[in-house]
Amino acid sequence: MARDGAWEVSGPITPEAATLLDIFIPLQRTPSFVVGQIGQSLDGRIATIEGHSHYVTGPEDIRRLHRLRAIADAVVVGATTVDLDDPQLNVRQAEGPDPVRVVLDPSGRVSSDRAVLTNAAGSTLILTGPAAAASPHGGQVERLTLATRTEKGARPRFAPADVLEVLATRGLRRVLVEGGGVTVSEFLAAGVLTRLHVAVSSLIIGSGRAAFTLPPVTLLDQALRPPTRVFHLGDDVLFDLALEGHPEPAETGA
Ligand SMILES: NC(=O)c1ccc[n+]([C@@H]2O[C@H](COP(=O)([O-])OP(=O)(O)OC[C@H]3O[C@@H](n4cnc5c(N)ncnc54)[C@H](OP(=O)(O)O)[C@@H]3O)[C@@H](O)[C@H]2O)c1
Repeated sequence: MARDGAWEVSGPITPEAATLLDIFIPLQRTPSFVVGQIGQSLDGRIATIEGHSHYVTGPEDIRRLHRLRAIADAVVVGATTVDLDDPQLNVRQAEGPDPVRVVLDPSGRVSSDRAVLTNAAGSTLILTGPAAAASPHGGQVERLTLATRTEKGARPRFAPADVLEVLATRGLRRVLVEGGGVTVSEFLAAGVLTRLHVAVSSLIIGSGRAAFTLPPVTLLDQALRPPTRVFHLGDDVLFDLALEGHPEPAETGA
């Protein structure tokens, strides 16, 4: 096993199995990661304006996403995804345990009938800001108040590093930031992602919710162009980006 995740096997292996090993071995061999994940159209959209997103990418890519969930301790989503999409965020198309579901809901606006709050088959952590109204959640749902900062005219925001610190203190160090675009963009802009999986489907929506929105740059030299591996998953293309400033998985030797 090389530092970039290269591997060798002694017997025959199918191309599909080789792709799986290439994608997942670098993640399996590290005790902590923060992977951002986006499934987008050719024109960089993750959903229609109304929030319809089922599905941007195809079944092979959805299986990759469930495998990612299965090796993550926690899966983080924004309040809009929970409200519009009502996801379960559990592992259904792969083997493995369900991650803890983490919802960023600074103003406490997520409705109490959403699956992540009512489905007792997994545990959920809701991060709210100090000004959020208290709302009762039962069973496996924990609500935690986290400090926010508010820039002029903007909505209150958690620092992504604070979110990760809260998770780490609970032993949740393998983190999947699953969407939507606003949430992944904030973690990307904060420089806390170790990898970014961008699955691109040959779909043109022409309008809708954006995959990435980052602070403006003047020159393309200032844009992100990280080392990237490319995989074909059915009709989709997966870009697996190693983000600068973050270490590659360390050699463990075993
Ligand atoms: N194709 C895909 O890969 C994919 C994946 C997931 C979701 N989706 C779709 O994407 C759409 C939603 O995406 P979106 O980009 O509009 O929104 P989103 O990322 O799901 O949610 C954004 C909201 O989450 C809260 N939030 C996120 N980061 C925060 C931070 N650092 N601090 C505090 N609050 C934070 C904020 O809530 P407040 O507004 O309350 O401040 C923010 O406005 C849905 O239609 C969903 O179906 C697609």
